[in-house]
Amino acid sequence: MATKTVDKRVEELREQLDHHLYRYHVLDDPEISDAEYDRLFDELKALEDEHPELIAPDSPTQRVGAPVSGRFQKVQHLTPMGSLEKVTTDEALEKWAGDVRKRLESDEPVAFVTEPKIDGLAINLTYEGGQLARGATRGDGYQGEDVTVNLRTIPSIPLKMRGDGLPPVAEVRGEVYMPISGFRELNERVAELGQKLAPNPRNAAAGSLRQKDSSITASRPLAVWMYGLGAAEELGLATHWEALEWLREHGFRTNPFSERHDSIESVAEVCRLWETKRIELDYEIDGIVIKVDSYDQQRRLSELHGRPRWARAYKWAPMTAQTKLLQIHIRVGRTGALNPWAQLEPVEVGGVTVSNATLHNEDDINRKDIRVGDTVIVQRAGDVIPQVVGPVLPHAKGSRRFRMPKNCPLCGAEIVRPAGEAMHRCPNPKCESRGLETLINWVWDIDGVGEQAIRRLWREGIVTSLPDLYRLTKEQLMELDGYAEISAGNAVSAIEQSKQTMTFHRVLAGLNIPDTGWVTARNLAAHFGSIDKLMQATQEEIQEAEGIGPGRAEGIAEWFSDEENLKLVRELRDLGLRFETGDELKPVEGPLSGQTYVITGTLESFTRDEAAQALEAKGAKVSNSVSKKTAGLIVGEEPGSKLKKAQDAGVPVLDEKALQRLLAGS
Ligand code: IVH
Repeated sequence: MATKTVDKRVEELREQLDHHLYRYHVLDDPEISDAEYDRLFDELKALEDEHPELIAPDSPTQRVGAPVSGRFQKVQHLTPMGSLEKVTTDEALEKWAGDVRKRLESDEPVAFVTEPKIDGLAINLTYEGGQLARGATRGDGYQGEDVTVNLRTIPSIPLKMRGDGLPPVAEVRGEVYMPISGFRELNERVAELGQKLAPNPRNAAAGSLRQKDSSITASRPLAVWMYGLGAAEELGLATHWEALEWLREHGFRTNPFSERHDSIESVAEVCRLWETKRIELDYEIDGIVIKVDSYDQQRRLSELHGRPRWARAYKWAPMTAQTKLLQIHIRVGRTGALNPWAQLEPVEVGGVTVSNATLHNEDDINRKDIRVGDTVIVQRAGDVIPQVVGPVLPHAKGSRRFRMPKNCPLCGAEIVRPAGEAMHRCPNPKCESRGLETLINWVWDIDGVGEQAIRRLWREGIVTSLPDLYRLTKEQLMELDGYAEISAGNAVSAIEQSKQTMTFHRVLAGLNIPDTGWVTARNLAAHFGSIDKLMQATQEEIQEAEGIGPGRAEGIAEWFSDEENLKLVRELRDLGLRFETGDELKPVEGPLSGQTYVITGTLESFTRDEAAQALEAKGAKVSNSVSKKTAGLIVGEEPGSKLKKAQDAGVPVLDEKALQRLLAGS
């Protein structure tokens, strides 16, 4: 290629790569696939290798730099970085708003901006002529450490600002953090190498930012949210809200949950809302930052000992905590899967007392090297079920690695672990747990009868089968704590009503037929139309229904040949449950009409059946097998072979977050 054209191509590639980094990491809205990005990147890298004279410091290839020797240099911030005074109650928040008004000495309106308080590390980026010249930690507020080489590796930090009218010098401030999903993956990698875990995403981010070798920082999933300006002369901005807009326009990643308010009541509402809503985020926030919007008012309010009077941090209790792992118990699910869970010394995490947490499976426990007696890190994040992140080393004295029991804790049957599966199973179809878990699963959309009630009714021997549930009386329920005349009456009529509202396929899915969840049950109901036809069908005939292979068909045929199961079906039918298909299988018209999805792996906030129902309610079809026509494969943890099949067929892969966005219609 002629030098002139090489020049042009290099320039073009840089612009494209910059644009795509921005789309992906700042706007969270990529236009091209990772593979396409890599192709452009590799092309640029090859041209630069051939023509080193063309390498520029702001080239996307120049994010990783030479290792730092010795300590990081100290740098002076152009304007000091303050810190925030905290409040923890609505009263303190309102008192502050009152003080603000008093100090302003007039009854002019005061507007506020709220922002999530990111639990990461404050950084200060200095741009000269729009180019990133320096990046530093907060340090003591006046002087921080120069970690430019490491900050340059974070793809959401622009090496040059976008847009026009770039100031000669500007300090841009924000927070570096590690997403929770990235933190979990990192900890898994670290645990496999037998290295020490970071107790929380904040420490992991801090450790990553202080690496002497920037290629290590580059391998860590760091991101930033930028929330303010330091020295930035003559930008002509009048409010903080305008500053956030300015940042966004110049290519910085600003948090989408920032809001402007005209009253402190509406600020208080936001503080309350996010205390619980924060678990939906993929990053930790430990409060809400509240800032007086007007720069003029900020100036008049000034600061006290480096803490501005114009801002406060409304802080909540943290989302991670340390506590002792007292015991590992096993719960046997309705399909026979053995689910280990942790019994913990009760501890407050994010305002909720936690005394147990999920532990997934044996491999996961041992990968993280969690042992009974250890002090462990417990986290509530991303979902409502608390997780054990890992042990705080060293291990407790005399602790041993966890082993799954050889026999089912309930029925004593020998435990099996099917090839290729992470879960251990109790193979005994008559195991008592299955009955109990089947009942618990059955009642999840019957109002007024929950898991606790079912457990007690089971223990008392009042309800030990599905037909028992439909024979339950108000008087029997009233003998349980927590039920009075009215609540017991309501529960009994909800059970009665479920005979009408539970469709044939919902009933089928609830019977605990092997490998028969929502999707298979619906396919069976659609194909056979009634239980009589299904009961008479041979394995070959069952296989004719959509999405049902020989293995599944065999299990279903076998289940229907067991006299006890037939008795159960007859009894339920006599009690008035639906065993025929009605109108319910007509596809629903909705935003997802015409699209077919497949679900694999374990989701966190839904069961697979719930996810399938939610998709169908939006008009989508849910199938068991991936084909070229599949609109998307939804993957949870430990996906099976479907993932590879989808990737091979070029089917889009969606994680749980994407599923939630899909259901929310965005
Ligand atoms: S503004 C003078 N906004 O909280 C105000 N800080 O104690 C300076 N932080 O060191 C900070 N999210 O690390 C501000 N949206 C946000 C923030 C935020 C997190 C951190 C920051 C700072 C500390 C204040």
